Amino acid sequence: MENQTLQQNTPEKRKRVFSAIKPTGNPTLGNYLGAMKYWGKMHEEFDCFFAVADLHAITVAIEPKELRENCKRLFALLVAVGIDPERNVLFMQSHVPAHAELSWLLNNYTMFGEASRMTQFKDKSKKAPENVNVGLFDYPVLMAADILLYQADIVPVGEDQMQHVELCRTIATRFNNRYSPTFAMPEGRVPKFGARIHSLSDPTAKMGKSDGENDGSIFILDKPEDIMRKFKRAVTDSGREVKAADDKPGITNLLTIYAAACGVTLEQAENEFASSSYADFKLRVGEAAIEALRPVRERYEALRRDDGALSALMRSGAEKAGRIASRTLEKVYKKIGFVRL
Ligand code: TRP
Repeated sequence: MENQTLQQNTPEKRKRVFSAIKPTGNPTLGNYLGAMKYWGKMHEEFDCFFAVADLHAITVAIEPKELRENCKRLFALLVAVGIDPERNVLFMQSHVPAHAELSWLLNNYTMFGEASRMTQFKDKSKKAPENVNVGLFDYPVLMAADILLYQADIVPVGEDQMQHVELCRTIATRFNNRYSPTFAMPEGRVPKFGARIHSLSDPTAKMGKSDGENDGSIFILDKPEDIMRKFKRAVTDSGREVKAADDKPGITNLLTIYAAACGVTLEQAENEFASSSYADFKLRVGEAAIEALRPVRERYEALRRDDGALSALMRSGAEKAGRIASRTLEKVYKKIGFVRL
């Protein structure tokens, strides 16, 4: 009885959040400061579902060993950055078969022309013309299945994924109109607070997940001495003032990293370095990055020491996700007219 009263007094149901990251490449400081760090706090306001999008990782050729390691590493990293599996539903996409099933069903409510217009598909086809496989084409439909299975209200994504979320809305609308309301209408959101971090060796380019060769990328799991070496080599600009400006992409990037790592504003960061040389400034940014990543790396290493415990976390995440996903999937099968047992 008491419970019921409580529920009636709840002004609004908590909104659902769904997002996923592909286990390709090696997650960077840019991924951390731009997105992952905030995912760990979202459960305070929302019911959160986060997946390692392993099914999405095979549209580009990848060695089995590499895929396996990337998946375990990313899963453990997501826990390490603060996504508490007790407070969030954190799981591996392929552990919930409903994703692959719904994506087949949704293929039949997605037009060839719509999928053909996806910018990412066109870009990736151009980049690797020898491997333009159907999975690459179908990628956004699988992504729509990810989102719609959980009736997500909010989908935090990078700018480059907004078009895919729009396609997801088109598919959901078409299905809802053809049958009856089935899917919640998700809203893509590019987080305003996430810092955009660029490469240390080419501050006009994004910090890439596979930018290992040229020291442009700081990886979340880099050792402190490697982080420091890369910051010491970071490209700066002409002049000697530590100030953010359009014609100072290198310094601006370093200030952005410092501000995000220390939780201060860009102006506060500028003030702190008003009388510093570029060389001193780079050292201080390196130290700030090392300290920001240290606790993450330590938690990560502890998690990777026990494979059984990691599997147990994956299993319980998949069970929680699976229960919700199969409710939606069952509805979809029934509405289309499948005979269910
Ligand atoms: N395609 C997304 C990316 O490359 C990852 C992803 C897969 C995703 N499924 C999703 C993001 C569902 C949001 C919702 O970043």
